[in-house]
Amino acid sequence: PTPSPTITPTPLPSNTPSPTTEPTPSATATIRIVIVPTITPLPVPATCVQPDPASDNFIPLVTKTFGLSAGYVPPNLVALSEHFSNRITLGYPTLLRAEVIGPLKALINDMESVGLSPFIISGYRSYNTQKLAFQKWQEIEPERAAQLSAPPGHSEHQLGLTVDFGSPTLQDYVETELTSNFHTNFYQTPEGQWLLNYAHVYGFTLSYPREAAALTGFFYEPWHYRYVGPELATQLHEIGISLTQYQLNQFAAPCEPIPTE
Ligand code: DAL
Ligand code: ZN
Repeated sequence: PTPSPTITPTPLPSNTPSPTTEPTPSATATIRIVIVPTITPLPVPATCVQPDPASDNFIPLVTKTFGLSAGYVPPNLVALSEHFSNRITLGYPTLLRAEVIGPLKALINDMESVGLSPFIISGYRSYNTQKLAFQKWQEIEPERAAQLSAPPGHSEHQLGLTVDFGSPTLQDYVETELTSNFHTNFYQTPEGQWLLNYAHVYGFTLSYPREAAALTGFFYEPWHYRYVGPELATQLHEIGISLTQYQLNQFAAPCEPIPTE
């Protein structure tokens, strides 16, 4: 991927504590310690509730801070090759949760019916596969690896609900020669444009919008969509916020991020 090079911090969210003033115990002392909060790329509430990742009743929060355990493997993984042609799967042995297959078929059929040719670059990635992917990015792009790739346990791909889409015309929208199927300008391709407008109808939400980079900690990924169901995806689309923002707003106190090792 060749995403935007900079991340601009956003103002502190409402749940970030205000500067705190601690008086000294002495009645006569006037020294005060002022603790000024710093702006972090991913503000995490001091307390929150992380749904059980193994439960189908919740939508797990998977961010740079909130992770899945190394042993978490989603239920009902199926091979895309059983449901899609090689043109769609590129011949890769991609897996996704069975629950996503129907909505994904509907989405791809509807894209093809208007003359588009999407393909699927990535789906489920195990904890160990993500570990290798993250290490690869650390070797190739050490400066930007943390914004390009999630550490193991912190990738939505481990949920088996997340799809990376591709476009056969991506090269037409990029001035330099492509070295992979990923580039920020995917959003300019007809497939990228269609997904931005309609993916929510099928239950898919754009996980890493450009404007959410400071919150998510990841560069804009116009190809990366997570299945959350049409109701929530449409709600997020209409309000114009990312799933991460929505979840951090929703969860009540208290909890700790789940350790991934
Ligand atoms: N590229 C996204 C953040 C991932 O590694 O899951
Ligand atoms: Zn992805």
